[in-house]
Amino acid sequence: MVTPTPTPADKFSFGLWTIGYNGADPFGGPTRAPMDIVHVVEKLKEVGAYGLTFHDDDLFAFGSSDADRQKQIDRLKGALADTGLIVPMVTTNLFSAPVFKDGGFTSNDRDVRRFALRKALRQLDLGAELGAKTFVMWGGREGAEYDAAKDIRMALERYREGVNMFAQYVTDKGYDIRFAIEPKPNEPRGDILLPTLGHAIAFISTLEKPDMFGINPEVGHEQMAGLNFASGIAQALYQGKLFHIDLNGQRGIKYDQDLVFGHGDLYNAFALVDLLENGGPNGGQAYDGPRHFDYKPSRTEDETGVWDSARANIANYLMLKERAAAFRADPEVQEALAASQVDGLSVPTLAEGESYENLLADRSAFEDFDVNPYYNGKGFGFVRLQQLATEHLLGAR
Ligand code: GCO
Ligand code: MN
Ligand code: MN
Repeated sequence: MVTPTPTPADKFSFGLWTIGYNGADPFGGPTRAPMDIVHVVEKLKEVGAYGLTFHDDDLFAFGSSDADRQKQIDRLKGALADTGLIVPMVTTNLFSAPVFKDGGFTSNDRDVRRFALRKALRQLDLGAELGAKTFVMWGGREGAEYDAAKDIRMALERYREGVNMFAQYVTDKGYDIRFAIEPKPNEPRGDILLPTLGHAIAFISTLEKPDMFGINPEVGHEQMAGLNFASGIAQALYQGKLFHIDLNGQRGIKYDQDLVFGHGDLYNAFALVDLLENGGPNGGQAYDGPRHFDYKPSRTEDETGVWDSARANIANYLMLKERAAAFRADPEVQEALAASQVDGLSVPTLAEGESYENLLADRSAFEDFDVNPYYNGKGFGFVRLQQLATEHLLGAR
């Protein structure tokens, strides 16, 4: 198979902090020099992206003067105009500066919380100015290492206070922006508030304007908690809360690897792309937002490796999309799906209008129902289905 060519309709986007990552980790400093914003936008255009996303501090250093900040914004705007790239999403850095060492919206220190709210409002304004439709909130420092150090119920209350205010602000300003909470179980904090997508969806239901809030789940973050990402995404879609998505790779329960999409759990990546592309009503797209890569080019790479890895994200997504389409189109897969009764789950368990009284009166459902054939018979054939998926994934079909 030739690697398919990306088009803007594929909606591939990258965070400025991803290809801009300089390689610093807790054990060593940078291995790569900073890249200029104009160069980044031009290169992203070249690799086939349609969008760039960024934290305020990715574009202009924390503490920049208004003039320096504006200069960078103007240079970005120029590069966007020259390339046709857009900014589909923005987010705020509330985790790097020392002031945020105990968090932003949920720091125990009220002055820090007020500063964090102002910083986020400023980035909201910039996002609206640049046409961003999604405002991501990743609370990397919203958490604790020690149980007695944080009143979790009050932290949730302060988080709620802050985001309710944002929703009111966006409504009053008439901005066309929705909010997406990004869960993560830990790192940099020992434990982070709203650690999984399920926690985040539950929290959203407590907000004043819940319809303005959804989630931005990241592959590696759910997998760090040992969870099945594709299955979590299915629930997010079911609840209408998949507002944005961070694609990357992770190999098991360990530190956040932020590998290239597909370079981690490839089976789950296949299931995910199949779900996003073919899991909608009538087999169409289940999600039509940006395919956003939030990965870190490995510290071992030079700039060539950075762009190779950016291309690899896109290529892997498109190859998986092609493989998922082939899987769905294979008559043997269709037959195996039918044999496994996958469609059977869409039939309501009670007949139309049937009450528990009717169910209780139905002898065929219980008294006369023969459970014995389920021993040593009536297998579901799921393994055969998985093997067919494997053969498609490996290009053997
Ligand atoms: C991580 C996170 C971050 C956030 C980003 C948006 O890898 O821990 O993905 O990269 O997505 O900072 O705020
Ligand atoms: Mn991550
Ligand atoms: Mn992310």
